[in-house]
Amino acid sequence: MRVSIREVGPRDGLQNEVPVPTAAKVELLDALSATGVPRIEAVSFVHPKAIPQMADAADVWAAASKSPNVRYSALVPNLKGAERALGAGFTELEVVVSASDVHNKANLNRSTAESLDDITALIDLVHGAGGSVEVIVATSFGCPYTGDVPPARVAGIVERVLADGADRLAFGDTTGMATPRRVTELLDVVPRERPVLLHFHDTRGTGLANILTALELGITEFDASVGGLGGCPYAPGATGNVATEEVVHMLHDMGLDTGIDLSRLIEAARLAERIVGRTLPSGVLRAGPRTRIVSA
Ligand code: COA
Ligand code: ZN
Repeated sequence: MRVSIREVGPRDGLQNEVPVPTAAKVELLDALSATGVPRIEAVSFVHPKAIPQMADAADVWAAASKSPNVRYSALVPNLKGAERALGAGFTELEVVVSASDVHNKANLNRSTAESLDDITALIDLVHGAGGSVEVIVATSFGCPYTGDVPPARVAGIVERVLADGADRLAFGDTTGMATPRRVTELLDVVPRERPVLLHFHDTRGTGLANILTALELGITEFDASVGGLGGCPYAPGATGNVATEEVVHMLHDMGLDTGIDLSRLIEAARLAERIVGRTLPSGVLRAGPRTRIVSA
């Protein structure tokens, strides 16, 4: 069975690090493109004051070597971001909205309802330009400011965006509040008539357990971040996404196919460490795969 990994380190990862030069971002993207990963979220088109790390998104994308074997996408927060992403040449877009009103205000400076109205227009714009839109529902498993988000609220948002024509859905565990129990509760309730991807942060060590739970419930698309880079600057205590090489290592051991070359991915994680100048949390980056033999 094939599991589809989308690498989000260049966006979710680097947006939460001390800003790095454009050339370093391009180098990381190019290294990731050569790992066999089928999808990469390359950049975001957000307000440069909100996330200065993404201010050079268009330059990064213009300089990156685009592999014909990779589906690249950009994250946007609103209609203006979608215009910028289309202008830069992207056709696959992710738009984010938080299920929690309080988190949405902190992240996007508007209510969830206002963002949903914006997304209605955004989907029309992107479809008109021949592109596709994934709606990422952030804080789907809980909000750092208000606690648990009822799965029925997430389902209501999904119904709305499906009616508006969303092509794909993603559920974001923005601050690592998901557990296998919460994953099961959400997947029991949300409509799954369109492709569904899950996005976990490993803030509390439940990332791989969440992925395993979701696999058992039929989900085969996951975000992950090289080395475990990442976080969310608006969420206190947030840490990186589940590390791509830890996910790939587990999936391959289970006999599942990802198309990714694990040793190239570990090389890319080493590059990510050099670029950000700090030790990244990935255990597989530290220890190598379990098949690695060390001398006695
Ligand atoms: N990219 C660049 N500029 C943008 C923009 C975007 N996506 N969206 C709006 N702007 C500009 C507007 O054109 C306007 O410019 P002007 O003053 O020159 O006319 C200005 O920003 C204010 O527009 P407004 O719609 O009122 O934006 P805002 O100040 O309410 O900010 C967001 C809203 C969504 C743009 C901002 O909160 C944001 O970028 N958040 C992203 C946060 C993020 O990336 N979080 C992590 C990923 S989930
Ligand atoms: Zn995230």
